[in-house]
Amino acid sequence: EEAEKGGYEHFMIKEINEQPRALRDTLKGRTTHQGDKVVLDEIKMTTHQIQGIKKIIITACGTAFHAGLVGKYVIEQLVRIPVEVDVASEFRYRDPIVDKDTLVVVISQSGETADTLAALREARRRGARVVAITNVIASSVAREADDIIYTWAGPEISVASTKAYTTQLVGIYLLALYLAQERNTLAAGNIKEILNELKAIYAKAQQVLDNESQIKEFAQQYHKCEDAFFIGRGLDYAVALEGSLKLKEISYIHAEAYAAGELKHGTLALIVENIPVIALATQQSLYEKMVSNIKEVKARDASVIALAMEGHTEVEKVADQVLYIPKTHPVLAPILTVIPLQLLAYYMAVYRDCDVDKPRNLAKSVTVE
Ligand code: G6P
Repeated sequence: EEAEKGGYEHFMIKEINEQPRALRDTLKGRTTHQGDKVVLDEIKMTTHQIQGIKKIIITACGTAFHAGLVGKYVIEQLVRIPVEVDVASEFRYRDPIVDKDTLVVVISQSGETADTLAALREARRRGARVVAITNVIASSVAREADDIIYTWAGPEISVASTKAYTTQLVGIYLLALYLAQERNTLAAGNIKEILNELKAIYAKAQQVLDNESQIKEFAQQYHKCEDAFFIGRGLDYAVALEGSLKLKEISYIHAEAYAAGELKHGTLALIVENIPVIALATQQSLYEKMVSNIKEVKARDASVIALAMEGHTEVEKVADQVLYIPKTHPVLAPILTVIPLQLLAYYMAVYRDCDVDKPRNLAKSVTVE
């Protein structure tokens, strides 16, 4: 096992560091040479079928569900089809409204999660076409779906999912751009622009990883806390949920993620002196709103770590500490934003002497209901 860890102390930190490679591999061969279009030979759906889609439902569990939440924002924005996201264990029991004009997207690293597989079967039984985003070749989900987009993360050993999540995001971007191409919802120039940025993302992910020492310091400073909050708007909210889950899973710190605009409807009552609040502010169109939300928690003396995109320094005036991610297209920011949150959870857990790779009561793949 030590040899498999390749010199790292845990699988989780090894897998976090593998993300630039995993992202590159997942993207490889999936664009034209000119870089202006997505090529997804795995998708057998015809243009006619794609044009007939009236609704998309994304269903998954755990971290894959959080990737699905990013998918909702991305697909609605780029393709303008309404998207619902549901945890698989809810979807299958809620008598979902699904028919042949519904595209169901299931996301599963292992491809063996019982609830996700049952959701896939339920969707097909009701006549929907199912696209699977999965990491394991010939897994049950891969075998039963109509179309597959494989992620090329490589084997993920750590129970806490990291490289699977960021490669699932790439799968979602590719699917969204592919649907946009086939439905003509985006100008060719826009598709090319996003694809160019996507091709640059793994080098930027490496830049974020190179900044590890700053995050380690945060972890050192805050690892004794009992509660933590993650706030964000739009895509940042979806990433906040994943950051909060990572922290809970491996460090056992109670963490909550909140849509920043919802703070005043309850959570603000829980914000007390020195409580760490991780505020994600990478979305330019929502930046000013986030600055106001940070002021709200600062007024209750919280300790705020903000994450913003390079060049957006106004947040320094209100947050205690700011961590910058490299500039990218706002829609792609989640790939870069989640990395510091993975590192934060990892180092917090290490400082608390937790069994990082095998957190209590959790399994890598849940194959029973
Ligand atoms: C388990 C794991 C999670 C994972 C979830 C879904 O709960 O502990 O890390 O996100 O299953 O797994 P899947 O293989 O379907 O992505």
